[in-house]
Amino acid sequence: MQRNVQSAYLAAEGFEKQLEQELEGIVDRRERLFLSDQPVQPAFWAQNIWRNPQVFEIESINHAARILKSIQRNWSLYSTSHHRRSTLIQEKLPHVSAKPLVFPATLPKAPLGAWTLLDQNLLLASADCSSPFANGEVVFEENRTGPPNRAYLKLWEALTLMEALPRQGEFCIDAGGSPGGWAWVLAKTGADVFCVDRAPLDERVMKLKNVDFEQGNAFNLKPEDFDFVDWLCCDVICYPEKLLGWITPWVESGKVRHMVVTLKFQGEPDYSVAGRFAGIPNSDLRHLFHNRHELTWMWKRGND
Ligand SMILES: C[S@@+](CC[C@H](N)C(=O)[O-])C[C@H]1O[C@@H](n2cnc3c(N)ncnc32)[C@H](O)[C@@H]1O
Repeated sequence: MQRNVQSAYLAAEGFEKQLEQELEGIVDRRERLFLSDQPVQPAFWAQNIWRNPQVFEIESINHAARILKSIQRNWSLYSTSHHRRSTLIQEKLPHVSAKPLVFPATLPKAPLGAWTLLDQNLLLASADCSSPFANGEVVFEENRTGPPNRAYLKLWEALTLMEALPRQGEFCIDAGGSPGGWAWVLAKTGADVFCVDRAPLDERVMKLKNVDFEQGNAFNLKPEDFDFVDWLCCDVICYPEKLLGWITPWVESGKVRHMVVTLKFQGEPDYSVAGRFAGIPNSDLRHLFHNRHELTWMWKRGND
């Protein structure tokens, strides 16, 4: 049994292979949870990282609950076996609200640990997880009437994790923004949105008074053509290498305060470009709960 586990990683659903490829020292796997004998390491495809987990021998359901409660209040279960026993333990722990977030939302402040049963009498638990959400699932109360598609959920999630929002009158570029889910999110904050896409915007988004649309190639947008950009958002479908070449001058220009960019992968791609995005100072690159075969790069200018 794995007593030498130093870190554990919960893969985003469907992206277990990607996570497995990026991790060192895997000693065990429980469904989407990978256990490693190495200290915590970056893992873009992890939905939640369990730092310094501990293994506990448990004698009973009550004993397990006592151990967890003695460490901290809030725990989320990732159940991979002994489901009934696991549920009975979780039921003995203080209730943790699982209500969907209403955007704009703040991040939960109370620490949320994660645990699982490795065996009937062996519990793995981490009090220090990378995500404040149960199993990294950022669930929102959805808006089924405003946005033209579900892409808005990605931007809602990114802005929530960045703990930053565009403000009234700020200037946002939305590259590859059609049909307009992201433009809708940005416009609803009161910011001014300049959206560029080869395809037209949804009519309802086009009608929003603070959305300006230009049909064309977003990669023609260059920092020298703008005085200042508060938010540069990009959801263009293209090779991540091309995207890196496009955003680099924007980063170097010092004219942008925040960026949210989706890196989209197709087929059996070379993921090494992800490390180059992550290497840009002040970056946060990860697979969002609402991402598909893509990663989201979130960046804030250092001196703001
Ligand atoms: C995933 S969709 C964007 C969805 C959008 N963020 C939303 O919330 O509705 C990708 C968009 O990239 C656009 N696109 C692809 N290449 C482009 C380019 N070179 N310039 C501008 N738009 C491009 C496509 O037309 C498409 O609308």
